[in-house]
Amino acid sequence: MPSYIVVGGQWGDEGKGSVIAYLATKDEPEVIARGGVGTNAGHSVFIHGKKYAVRQLPTGFMQREARLLVGAGVLVDPGVFFRELEHLKDFGVASRVGIDARCAIIEEKHKELDRTNGYLHGKIGTTGSGCGPANADRVMRTAKLAKDIKELEPYLTDVAVEVNDALDEGKLVLVEGTQGFGLSLYYGTYPYVTSKDTSASAIASDVGIGPTRVDDVIVVFKSFPTRVGAGPFPTEMSQEEAEKLGVVEYGTVTGRRRRVGWFDFDFARYSSRINGATMLAITMLDKYERGAFGVTDYDKLPKRAKEFIEEIEERVGVPVGLIKTGPELEHIIDRRENL
Ligand code: GTP
Ligand code: IMP
Ligand code: MG
Repeated sequence: MPSYIVVGGQWGDEGKGSVIAYLATKDEPEVIARGGVGTNAGHSVFIHGKKYAVRQLPTGFMQREARLLVGAGVLVDPGVFFRELEHLKDFGVASRVGIDARCAIIEEKHKELDRTNGYLHGKIGTTGSGCGPANADRVMRTAKLAKDIKELEPYLTDVAVEVNDALDEGKLVLVEGTQGFGLSLYYGTYPYVTSKDTSASAIASDVGIGPTRVDDVIVVFKSFPTRVGAGPFPTEMSQEEAEKLGVVEYGTVTGRRRRVGWFDFDFARYSSRINGATMLAITMLDKYERGAFGVTDYDKLPKRAKEFIEEIEERVGVPVGLIKTGPELEHIIDRRENL
């Protein structure tokens, strides 16, 4: 598979970060490119018990041989970018990272507006990262671009050319999506959505590859979907129920408590179709069935966990190739060869 895209199938925080980290380590892609909105996303990865959270750089940073790219569609917050270079310095990211010169810039005024505007902050419950206001300026064609920021100069590149060149040379390219299908500006629960489409096609466009160059689309779902901020969530459960089940979570970027719900098979089917899913990744199976924790062999899963996976495959109509059974990189069942 020369190019594959990983996207979230629900409302973000599906654990894409940990799925991407596994693929980056196992498949050793030579190029890892990030699409999506911008620094509103927070992907967390556990490596040998240590937590790393990235909002700007590709989550596949731990693959030390890979070129790490941020596509033209992604918003760049220079402050976050430089903090992450520091945060990840043990992985030698600074010499491998490239930002497309056409990325639009998040400025202080965008963050200020995102945090104080009654509609954005109060009604929609945005992340306050400035992404919506920065994308609005981009549409108005007043936003600054990465090429206008002197400090970013050493990192600037043409990501679209790099990614297409890599594909021409037969290299493996991993493309990372952010947020989730339910947050898409087009297909999500408008107006309770983010400021851009988040489906696989948009992610491909963000990094500059055409639809014919995408070989696989991996859609990630978590066993108990979550949602932060306002908006419809048909299968939402009460806070007490979430506590009883031990599935309470807090946001990586905002620290807000996440709303939790039951797995919605019909929504997953819809999301998979629009994303053009060729494979699913299911995360947090250990939260669905405690006995699944840390299991790496499908046959060793508890019966109830297997039945859940089978029901997903049947009702969504797409094979499940990857199953996360815990937060660590190695807590995974990789069945891709058997598909
Ligand atoms: P977004 O871009 O915001 O969607 O981020 P994300 O998909 O990377 O998810 P995020 O990191 O916000 O939240 C997922 C959390 O669950 C992280 O702390 C992961 O380490 C953890 N996690 C991932 N997979 C599993 C799993 O299978 N079981 C358990 N228990 N935790 C997991
Ligand atoms: P914005 O993207 O900051 O404008 O926020 C719009 C909506 O998308 C809010 O409900 C946010 O909570 C949600 N959102 C944006 N990015 C993420 C993400 O990475 N994970 C989960 N929710 C997100
Ligand atoms: Mg997240």
